[in-house]
Amino acid sequence: MSLCLVTGGAGFIGSHIVRALLAKGRRVRVLDDLSTGKRGNLDEVAAEIEFIEGDIRDVTTVERAVRGVDAVFHLAARASVPRSVKEPRAAHEVNVTGTLNLLIAARDAGVRRFVYSASSSAYGDTPVMPKTVEMRPVPLSPYAVSKLAAEHYCAVWSHVYGLQTISLRYFNVFGPRQDPHGPYAAVIPAFVSRMLRGQAPVIFGDGEQSRDFCFIENVVQANLLAADVGEIRGEVVNVACGERTTLNEIVADLNKLLGTSLRPVYEPPRAGDVKHSLADISTTRKVLGYEPRVMFPEGLRRSIEWYKANL
Ligand SMILES: NC(=O)c1ccc[n+]([C@@H]2O[C@H](COP(=O)([O-])OP(=O)(O)OC[C@H]3O[C@@H](n4cnc5c(N)ncnc54)[C@H](O)[C@@H]3O)[C@@H](O)[C@H]2O)c1
Repeated sequence: MSLCLVTGGAGFIGSHIVRALLAKGRRVRVLDDLSTGKRGNLDEVAAEIEFIEGDIRDVTTVERAVRGVDAVFHLAARASVPRSVKEPRAAHEVNVTGTLNLLIAARDAGVRRFVYSASSSAYGDTPVMPKTVEMRPVPLSPYAVSKLAAEHYCAVWSHVYGLQTISLRYFNVFGPRQDPHGPYAAVIPAFVSRMLRGQAPVIFGDGEQSRDFCFIENVVQANLLAADVGEIRGEVVNVACGERTTLNEIVADLNKLLGTSLRPVYEPPRAGDVKHSLADISTTRKVLGYEPRVMFPEGLRRSIEWYKANL
């Protein structure tokens, strides 16, 4: 039974990938410093996994974590745009140097495959839509730069050292266990948690900004495919649904689903945020055989059920 390492496995997306790998009969090791992730995210699978509490900035820890590993799913990161604007050095150290540490250790340990969680923020605010992987990236925040730099490192590790790497550029992922708390919460959990308490959701900007929201199950699918498809060599693919929704539309949908009629409070736009985002997923279909299975309305319904039961 092959051993997989999930860095950031105690986080939102990582905790779903851990469960999916266990369901496929893989052995799973998690490396996470619990900075934004929680042990509670892995509660009912805790006995089935090996958990290393540690930091990807620490070379010795990383070397220990990749020992005997067949595939690495690398999710550990400082995953927030506004936080990176405030603390750019830490974003670089975790997202770039941390990834470099993992790539070096994975190469030296003979890891077969390295699946990197990249970000659509690499595209920046170019008006061209949908975003294709051939487009020239224009990162607009320290976070976006750091995620893109790590992508390049992954590709180079394929070309120079023969480690099979792939970068999955996620668009806005949402779903159960996504953290609704704190100043860096993602938009859907932030809206849902306020609206469940009868409070108005807060929108930065006019609410007409749009995103290609991607339910977590599709992201899990892309990761499993990326680990198992035939030979790969530093490819970059988008992971999304190929449809976009505005923030005003989300509030309207949530009002319907929750039976509320809350009007959003509008605040000034935030630095580093992009206006629109929509993915072209034709390369992902070709390279991975990926097909989104849960589209936005169904994903939103399932997420609300989870937040209702767990908040
Ligand atoms: N959520 C999205 O919409 C989205 C979109 C694009 C890309 N991504 C990428 O997906 C990955 C997972 O994001 P998420 O939304 O699950 O965020 P998350 O914050 O829930 O998960 C990140 C995990 O990494 C861990 N971590 C952070 N710094 C670490 C360090 N120095 N050493 C070890 N562990 C560390 C955290 O404790 C957490 O468990 C990130 O790489 C992020 O950049 C997410």
